[in-house]
Amino acid sequence: MSELIETLIRTHDLSDDELLRFLSEPQPEAELFAAADTVRRANYGDRVFLRGLIEFTNYCKNNCYYCGIRAGNPHAERYRLTDEQILACCKEGYALGYRTFVLQGGEDPFYTDDRICETVSAIAEAFPDCRITLSIGEKPKESYQRYYDAGARRYLLRHETADPVHYRQLHPESMSLENRKRCLFDLKAIGYQVGSGFMIGSPYQTDACLLADIRFLQALQPAMIGVGPYITHRETPFAEMPSGELHRSLKIIALLRLLFPQALIPATTAFGSLHPEGRELALKAGGNVVMPNLSPVAVRKLYDLYENKICTGEEAAQCRGCLEQRILHAGYRPVTDVGDSLVPFGKA
Ligand code: 5AD
Ligand code: FES
Repeated sequence: MSELIETLIRTHDLSDDELLRFLSEPQPEAELFAAADTVRRANYGDRVFLRGLIEFTNYCKNNCYYCGIRAGNPHAERYRLTDEQILACCKEGYALGYRTFVLQGGEDPFYTDDRICETVSAIAEAFPDCRITLSIGEKPKESYQRYYDAGARRYLLRHETADPVHYRQLHPESMSLENRKRCLFDLKAIGYQVGSGFMIGSPYQTDACLLADIRFLQALQPAMIGVGPYITHRETPFAEMPSGELHRSLKIIALLRLLFPQALIPATTAFGSLHPEGRELALKAGGNVVMPNLSPVAVRKLYDLYENKICTGEEAAQCRGCLEQRILHAGYRPVTDVGDSLVPFGKA
């Protein structure tokens, strides 16, 4: 067995030199994915957790250079869901068996803290046996505390890159890596199950950036690590930049599974958008979560982070059946319970 994979299995870590070697040299793919799958099964068995994703607003005040719904894209057609629409999505998801709802949106000032708390409370009241996850960007600690008190228990906020120079290459001056890190540690201190992560193959990303990402995640110890290939959107400043590569992305998923045996690692929509079986391949490389889209079909195309995003057509009205088949076919078992992470969490 390759020496680096053997060290990963034994210690769930590598030195900086070893990690850089792992990233820059080709690794035996079958061996790597088998090792990741063994570690995943030892921790989570063959379970794949389903989370219902509700993309409730594509308004965003930020201007990240990679993202299709950036404020500076005048061609993005904007929408917001009402509380009634959001609750209707949850109701539909509940009937399908989902016990986690992920409310994701751009950083949209229309949704004040009061409004978010109202929505979260309404969902918590209507579906007391469900977990509510928020993914609505950078906020003051007090706001995160209010959402928690209203009933939110999980929060997804990718750090995007832990390398300060790279962070500047992906984001305008108005945003800062420092604040993003502050948010993530605040969320953890409040007691959230936190998800972080980054894009693979984003413009200007180097192996040194990935090393920084891994060291940052080791310090944060998130409950979930969300990664996926960067996919170019033509209405962004990065229109001419190439998308990330599938096999590189799968290699990173497997590496993350070996470094973070207990983390939840989603087979993200970006994998499925890059390759017809991208999500299945990501599951076989160590992933154990999928997030079917519960947003109303009429707005799905508008949550246009990157090109060729899947599950946006009429045929996707019910992702559940489709995904269940895909998960089973990949050799795993879809489960709909709340599926908490094995990574310890709770008030610091
Ligand atoms: N390609 C892939 N992922 C993207 N995201 C935003 N834009 C893109 C893109 N062009 C990811 C970011 C963000 C998440 C919601 O979607 O990492 O955190
Ligand atoms: Fe959405 Fe297959 S998972 S259409």
